[in-house]
Amino acid sequence: MTADVTIYRFILDKSDDEVSYLAALLSADEVERAGRFHFDIHRKRYIVGRAMLRTTLSRILGTAPRKLQFAYSQYGKPTLEGDLRFNLSHSDSYAVLAVAAGCDVGVDVERVRRDDDLIPLARRFFSPAEVEQLTALPADEQTMAFFRCWTRKEAYIKADGAGLSIPLDAFSVALGRGDVPRLSGQGTEGWAVDSIETEPGYVGAVVAHAAELRLRYRVPALQSTSRPALQPPLWPIAAASVS
Ligand SMILES: CC(C)(COP(=O)(O)OP(=O)(O)OC[C@H]1O[C@@H](n2cnc3c(N)ncnc32)[C@H](O)[C@@H]1OP(=O)(O)O)[C@@H](O)C(=O)NCCC(=O)NCCS
Repeated sequence: MTADVTIYRFILDKSDDEVSYLAALLSADEVERAGRFHFDIHRKRYIVGRAMLRTTLSRILGTAPRKLQFAYSQYGKPTLEGDLRFNLSHSDSYAVLAVAAGCDVGVDVERVRRDDDLIPLARRFFSPAEVEQLTALPADEQTMAFFRCWTRKEAYIKADGAGLSIPLDAFSVALGRGDVPRLSGQGTEGWAVDSIETEPGYVGAVVAHAAELRLRYRVPALQSTSRPALQPPLWPIAAASVS
């Protein structure tokens, strides 16, 4: 089975006017959560992320953004009733949303940073096979390989939905520049992983419950404050489908 996964990428930093407009699309519990952020920048990014999530999904489903009612898994993964699966990830001002039909999906994006602590972090969180692959690489390839590994692992635990209750060292990903992305180890059978194209300076990965993935990139439904006209539903015609 091949899963079609649609990837939407967007910037979270918007003007105050845009943030105010977008905040009106959120549910009461999201507004309440937004109010709990300590820093304004994080509050605004959360609002924009949730509003973009709502407008994109509502356009696919042909419903109003505010009408979407998210349920939350035991580990906090937002879901909707029905066949449409999605997952959001953000790093600094950049966000990626993955949408698929009928198969669980997870996505992760991270801003690449060069740091002396990456190898110690890898030793703490990655599997022994991953640490071995990483440390065998030339030094100038290790940073990107680290983030490839991190995002692939994170996308898997987000696809599964169980978050950090899955031991990170119990499964492995391929992390070399030319390696075919794949997962192995505990529970990973039946899941496929791939890299996603991102802005320069970021690395991203997506995982779905399928034998292989077919990715396509779309512009999010709402790019600016221009009021989202009620669009004809794209779902189920154009949304990700499973074949
Ligand atoms: C919460 C967690 C699911 C993702 O955290 P993260 O990487 O910091 O954040 P991301 O931006 O990728 O994802 C956050 C979004 O995922 C969604 N999400 C929340 N809980 C989730 C879960 N259990 N499963 C899947 N998605 C989840 C939400 O939409 C959330 O964003 P929002 O609340 O603003 O809408 C979890 O995996 C975590 O805490 N990770 C910590 C990082 C870590 O130690 N990683 C080690 C990797 S080797």
